Amino acid sequence: MTRTFHFARRCFGTVISMGSLAGCVQQSPAIAGRANFASTQGTQASADQILLGRALVLNHDCAGCHGGASPQSVDWLAGRKTPAQGEFLIGPCALTPGATPCFRTMARNLTPDNATGLGRFSERQIFNALRYGLRVEDTPDVDITSGTPGVGNFPTHPRYIAPPMPWPGWRYMSDKELYSIAAYLKHAVKPAINKVPDSEGPPDFWASVYTVDNIGPYPPPAFPAASERIPQ
Ligand code: HEC
Repeated sequence: MTRTFHFARRCFGTVISMGSLAGCVQQSPAIAGRANFASTQGTQASADQILLGRALVLNHDCAGCHGGASPQSVDWLAGRKTPAQGEFLIGPCALTPGATPCFRTMARNLTPDNATGLGRFSERQIFNALRYGLRVEDTPDVDITSGTPGVGNFPTHPRYIAPPMPWPGWRYMSDKELYSIAAYLKHAVKPAINKVPDSEGPPDFWASVYTVDNIGPYPPPAFPAASERIPQ
């Protein structure tokens, strides 16, 4: 099973609706925290933490977009290589060629290469990206204590990670889990040199897409929430 097919399968079940950007997210083969919890900053990441991070990366299928069939692949998590791998059309153009708006987004290089991957960023910045959806290079290396722009170190004008990166779901992983992913990416994945072109996006960096109405409140209400129940 190729990665393209794998993603296409997911895509057919995932016609997303994001206001004016309603449409299917399609891979485009030419159109087709709290740092005080588990941060390893300044200390050695433990083998347990790295193995947990590896398991989470595997079972969340990060590679389905970020590249590599398995950890055996030389391009494991190395990011978009060609338009057919790790590149997406976001917006109505994914369903109707030529329809607008249309943005091409590219899965980033998650390996610890300094120049082209995550090597020059801290584990806290990677944590902030996964918890709050903030682009790594635009995220200060500080503890963020709020999801509201301008409050608790949350940037006043946040630059969000582009779709289809499913960070709204990753927000619900624990601090320990997210820091374990960061530790695995920084310490255990082999660096791969691959300069991924910048994703295209709207001038507000998706701020009008990632609203509470669209992705739910964070932190979430306690269980059971409105559409859940406690089994009798
Ligand atoms: C459905 C596709 C998809 C999946 C699955 C996915 N990502 Fe992404 N990811 C993307 C895209 C596309 C971008 C680039 C968005 C941009 O340029 O703003 C991205 C960006 C990122 C970034 C930001 C990098 C930077 O330099 O700003 C991180 C970190 C990241 N992903 C980690 C992960 C991890 C860890 C997983 C699995 C737990 C994962 N992603 C799963 C598509 C995906």
